[in-house]
Amino acid sequence: MKSLALVGLQWGDEGKGKLVDWISARFDLAIRYQGGPNAGHTVWVNGAKWVFHQMPAGVLNPNIHVAIAAGCVLHPQTLFEEWEKLDAAGVDYQSRTTIDPRTHIILPHHRLLDKLRDEARGKHKIGTTARGIGPCYQDKYSRCGIRVGDLFSSSLPGKLDIIINYHNAIIEKIYGKQGIGKSRILNDLQATAERIRPLVGDVSVLVNTYLEQGRKVLFEGAQGVLLDVDHGSYPYVTSSNPGTTSIPTGVGISPKVVDKVIGLTKAYATRVGAGPFPTEDEGEMGCKLQELGNEFGAATGRRRRCGWLDLPLLRYVIALNGVDGLAITKLDVLDSFDRLKVCTGYKQLDGSIRTEITPHDESPGEPVYEEIEGWQASTADARTFEELPERAQAYLEWISKQVGIPLWAVSVGQERTATITMPDFPF
Ligand code: GDP
Ligand code: IMO
Ligand code: MG
Repeated sequence: MKSLALVGLQWGDEGKGKLVDWISARFDLAIRYQGGPNAGHTVWVNGAKWVFHQMPAGVLNPNIHVAIAAGCVLHPQTLFEEWEKLDAAGVDYQSRTTIDPRTHIILPHHRLLDKLRDEARGKHKIGTTARGIGPCYQDKYSRCGIRVGDLFSSSLPGKLDIIINYHNAIIEKIYGKQGIGKSRILNDLQATAERIRPLVGDVSVLVNTYLEQGRKVLFEGAQGVLLDVDHGSYPYVTSSNPGTTSIPTGVGISPKVVDKVIGLTKAYATRVGAGPFPTEDEGEMGCKLQELGNEFGAATGRRRRCGWLDLPLLRYVIALNGVDGLAITKLDVLDSFDRLKVCTGYKQLDGSIRTEITPHDESPGEPVYEEIEGWQASTADARTFEELPERAQAYLEWISKQVGIPLWAVSVGQERTATITMPDFPF
């Protein structure tokens, strides 16, 4: 096995950062292939907290090369803030980071437009991260975006004129706000060019070279597949395809390159931002999940909505993404619950139960729950499956059986070491 994709199977924040950091010791190259600083990937190493928005979360492993591929959108300022933290901690990333020249750049206008546009939706607000993601991808597909490679070209001022005039007309004429001038943006982009010049390289070629050399490659998904712009709960989605489907286009490689896929789900469910969440628990148990799981967004600090695992949705995304094995995270958050709920189907008006639904199903029906007795014992120190309380083992085995794929890993705490690897995990 040479390559693994790691994707979130819910609405994001499944613990991708934690598991990417843990797993990256087994890989030679780790790549972000979509999304941008809407991601917040948290890593804890020896009591120190890191949150990566732009840099691949595997970067703390000194032996891995990391890359930001063409399918991503890049906010240079956010990237530089991460670099400053890495510099302060003495982490050498400069010699082992590559940024693709085709990556699109998030401009100040994108961030402003993201905010203005979402506010203007009133009660239909998506609750975006306001990081400029949608407007940047919009310009990419309108073929007027600014790419990393443009920073080194004499055509940059002319390209900026076109895009900035267009953005300012919208900001001023539609939203009645003050536009943003060009000169400071141009200066900032020229300074950005100088800082990132040594790191710019073709990530598509890089991946193929690593694979030809027999080295191992990890693809790090951002967001979660229920936020997929094509297959998620549109319009309450992000503007990219967080699942495995976008790895070939986002990186520039053959679809045959991804050998295995590990899908991450929390042992329960959360969602930040608006949009359908059929198994949301707005009662006492939901509050307890929020509190014990410390469920606040890593990018925006917003409170995450909490609820229960949804097996029909999980089965849908597993099939959509060709997921081979499961990683179940935040198991420890359930330790003190005397009973747990898991959605096994959706009751229809005629009393029948549907066990297959999709995230774009507008009226799936009423969730039907299986109530499970909690284990009420700590899982935090378990480092093997057998060390887990029996009822926790049974819970994990039951989920894996329900969704029809093996369990590959379990996370029982935020620290890198609080991870259980199952014997049949192929890496
Ligand atoms: P990501 O976006 O998928 O990388 O996830 P986030 O970093 O946004 O959110 C996951 C949160 O849960 C972070 O605060 C992690 O430190 C934390 N976390 C990850 N895995 C575990 C776990 O197994 N147990 C506990 N208690 N916290 C975890
Ligand atoms: P990670 O990688 C959770 C959500 C936003 C909003 C919707 C659209 O940390 O799992 P956007 O700014 O992308 O246009 O917002 O998507 N969202 C996330 N939710 N985790 C994320 O990333 C997210 N990235 C975007 O809250 O509902
Ligand atoms: Mg996150």
